[in-house]
Parts: sequence; C-alpha cells; structure tokens
Amino acid sequence: MINNNPIGLFDSGIGGTSIWKEIHDLLPYEDTIYLADSKNAPYGQKSKEEIIQLSIKNTEFLLNQNCKIIVVACNTATTNAIKELRAKYDIPFIGIEPAIKPAALNSQNHVIGILATQGTLNSELFHKTAEKFQDTKIIEQIGHGLVPLIENGDINSPEMDSLLHRYLKPMIDANIDYLVLGCSHYPYLVPQIKKILPRSIGIIDSGEAVARQTKNVLNEKVGFNTQTEKGRNIFYTNGNPLVLSTILNDKFKVIAKDF
Ligand code: DGL
Repeated sequence: MINNNPIGLFDSGIGGTSIWKEIHDLLPYEDTIYLADSKNAPYGQKSKEEIIQLSIKNTEFLLNQNCKIIVVACNTATTNAIKELRAKYDIPFIGIEPAIKPAALNSQNHVIGILATQGTLNSELFHKTAEKFQDTKIIEQIGHGLVPLIENGDINSPEMDSLLHRYLKPMIDANIDYLVLGCSHYPYLVPQIKKILPRSIGIIDSGEAVARQTKNVLNEKVGFNTQTEKGRNIFYTNGNPLVLSTILNDKFKVIAKDF
C-alpha cells in the first residue's frame, strides 16, 4: 500500500523526540512532522479534561498538515486522551504506555519500579495494565520536576541529579531489578540514571515497541511512503526552538510557531 503523506507526532514538549528517533531509524523514508507543545508543558499535573483538549488541538494541527497517522509520543496524553481521540477522528493513532509488561515478565525479584508523571500513574489505563501483573510489586514514583528541567535544557544539572537520587533510592532499597521509564522525556536521563542505579537493574522504555507498532499499522492499514530519498523531517515548537534543536543535535529543521 502506498501513502506518501507524513507521519505526525506530538508531545507536551521535546521528550517525544525520543520516540521520533526510534521511528525515524526504523522508517527513514517516511516524512515526519513533530509537534512540541512546550508552551503547555508539563501535561503531567493537568486534569484529564485539559489533557484531552490539548491533545485535540495538537491533532487538529497535524491533520491540517495531512498526516496519515498520528503518534501520541507522550504517555500522559496516551493514558488520558487516546480513547477520546480515537472516538473523534477517523485516522489511526499509535500511543505510548509504560512498558510494565516486559519488565514484569523478565523480573526475577518480582519487584519493578516505574517513574512516570502523575497523570500517567493516576490514569485508568495504567491501573488496568498494572492489575494484570498481580505477582509483581510495582514501586510507583512520580517524576515531579523532571520534565520542566528537561524542557529548560537542564539535563546535566545538580538539581536533576538530586531529584533522580531522591526518586530512585527507595526503588533500589526495595530491590527492583527493572526500572520502567514511563514518560517519553525520560530516555534523555538514562546516562544520569545509570550513574545512580546498580548495573544489575535493567532500564526499559517503550520507544522501540512504538516504532514497530507504527510500522505494522502502516503496513496493514495506511501505506508506506515510496520515495527513494530519505524522508523530510519538520519539527514545530511553541517553546524555545534552541532547546529542541539541541536535543536533535542541530541536525533538523526546527520551526518556532504558536499553536
Ligand atoms: N512526555 C510526557 C509523557 O510521556 C509528558 C510529560 C509532561 O508533560 O508532564 O508523559
């Protein structure tokens, strides 16, 4: 099946670029449009209704750019709004949820940790998934303050280090053997997290699984881009374009726009 329209992605900010990278690696000939709603970040403490309204706004923007599929590159938006988006629009949506399943299935200690936003950890979707793994103890931790620091470009700051120590210490003490990163911003913290966690604790995020799922849906329902040149990748932000550019190693076109 052929469909040369772009793949659309959105997140509350720059974090979803961690998902975009996985999709771009797997599907390099696809055009992509990424929307960083940094002006409204963080979504994690907003109400479900606010998250739905922001997700609708982002979706409308991407639909106006003729996107053929939308990747909700944000756990908080997926767990709070994807059901409503699917009911409202006649286009496939791919969501991202914390990877509890692989962590629980691989855990030898039957204790895993999850770091995610308040919105994700409080959502019905998260609870439904967590309930499926009754024999695994899940240590939940809200990552208060992490997203604003990432959005400010302060990944390598002493504040970040001290927050991560505070959030990870109880998990280490509880003897987790897997840490699930339940927010698309957090893969950018892996180098700092690795300095704190013992090497025996595995770190899992959902980026690769989302990319594989996107490819499957293009294959089965939507169609691939057949161009022989590498895809064009456009990034829009309503926040600071420099922070978004930096996280993309200054390799891609970033457009500052209010939306
Ligand atoms: N990147 C987001 C997520 O995956 C949202 C973080 C936030 O805006 O609070 O949950």
